[in-house]
Order: sequence, then C-alpha cells, then structure tokens
Amino acid sequence: MSAETVAKVPEKGPRHVALIMDGNGRWAERRGLPRAVGHREGVQALRRTIKAAPDFGIRCLTVFGFSTENWSRPADEVSDLMGLVRAFVGSDLKRLDAAGVRVRVLGRRKGLPADIAAIVDRAEAQTAHNDGFLLQVAFNYGGRADLVDATQRLVDRVRAGQLTGELSEDDLGAGLSTAGAPPVDLIVRTSGEQRLSNFLLWEAAYAELVFQDILWPDYGAEALGEAIALYGGRERRYGGREALPDPAAVKAAVD
Ligand code: FPP
Repeated sequence: MSAETVAKVPEKGPRHVALIMDGNGRWAERRGLPRAVGHREGVQALRRTIKAAPDFGIRCLTVFGFSTENWSRPADEVSDLMGLVRAFVGSDLKRLDAAGVRVRVLGRRKGLPADIAAIVDRAEAQTAHNDGFLLQVAFNYGGRADLVDATQRLVDRVRAGQLTGELSEDDLGAGLSTAGAPPVDLIVRTSGEQRLSNFLLWEAAYAELVFQDILWPDYGAEALGEAIALYGGRERRYGGREALPDPAAVKAAVD
C-alpha cells in the first residue's frame, strides 16, 4: 500500500462495504457504444475494486450483480449479463481462490439458468475454505425476496418445533443469505442515483450510505478511497446520542 493510500484510510475504516454498481448503460451510451460494452467495462471496474479493497482494510465486499427486477430488461441484455458472470468465474475464480478470497453468491438459485447455478455452486465450493476476504455477489437477489425466504425458514423451524418462545432479530437474520457475514458498514451507490433499489434492506439498518456521481465503469481504487474518506467523517450512533461501536460487533466479541 502506498504512503498516500495509508494516509487516506480512516482509523476506523469499514470492514464490510456493499456496492450498487450503477451506470454501466449510461457510460456506454455517452460513448455511442452498446450497453453490453458498459457492462464489460463494469467487470473491469469490479476487478480493480476487489483488488484495491484489502488495502483500505476492507474484509468483505458485497456487490449487486443482478437483481430479481433485472429480468425485466430486454432478453439480449439479460443474456449479456449472464454471459459476463460465466466469463468472470471462468477467468477469475482461480486467481481469487489463490488470493484467499471466499466467494459467496447471495440470492435465489431457483430461476437461474442451470449452468449458471452450477457455476455459482462451484465458485462457492472451491473457495469455501478461504478466510482472507469475503466476496459476496448478489445475483438474482432482491432484499424483499431474501426477507421472504428468511421468514419461510423461520416458519419451517417453528413448525418443526425447533424454535419456541419469542422470536429475535438473530432468528430472522440467521435465515438471510448474508447470514454469518460481518455487519454492513457502508453502502455505496454510483452514478448519482440515491436509493437502495431493494438491496440489503435488513442489513442496511445501520449502514452509512454514500452516493457518488462517478459511473460504475470508471470506478476503482481512487473512488473507493473517496467513499471511505466520506465514511471516516461520519459519526455512527446506532440510535444513541454518542458515537458507538457496532452493537453486532460488540455482541460477537462478547459471545
Ligand atoms: C447497473 O448499470 C448495473 C447492472 C445492472 C449490472 C452490474 C453488473 C456488472 C458490473 C457486471 C457483471 C457482474 C458480475 C458479478 C460479473 P445499468 O445498466 O443499470 O446502468 P444505467 O443505469 O446507466 O442504464
């Protein structure tokens, strides 16, 4: 890490950063290029960002690759995005594994083309032993759908007599596809849009939100550093009156 980068890393930097990688289409359209080129450049930006993240002290990245709502895009664009995931896993999985990255795919397997579901299973299985860095790719993911699935798991456990008494937040959280990941500290959305678009609805409860004007294909270490610097200037109070450590992290340390 360069001295310049070290100077930019806040003392209490985010451990878990989630990214809404928005603006691929506009990036391409502004250059008179097909949207597919924007998505392809988006994959390059993702590679740069994954590479830069550990230098900023980040231990987990969660990226929004394809939402449950993205199926409504024209068939050729959906097919381009599926093709990019095939290519990304094909070309990057070995390198990610060698770098100690555990890959986890959030979202519903049902509804994915069979070969993509198999690729996703393979990526998870091959990297399951890694604990250096967690990369979560939300694919066929929607925050509401994930909450519905977690609720269904709760109902199943109650019906099976495995869960009695009052429900807790932990009981529901354990059924989400992000269960076990560190708490989300920072959610970044690029391209100037300022909404969550059904991303990490439960997990966003105490996350800091940063919106950047940059279009996703232009993203990389510099823009990530800017987002982290903005995060460093925030005071996280978790509903209290003073800056506090994350209650989930405190609980994990005590348990
Ligand atoms: C939003 O841009 C971006 C997406 C819908 C997909 C993000 C996907 C990638 C960066 C590449 C593939 C992912 C993986 C995990 C390999 P947009 O098309 O909505 O942009 P616009 O708002 O400018 O039209």
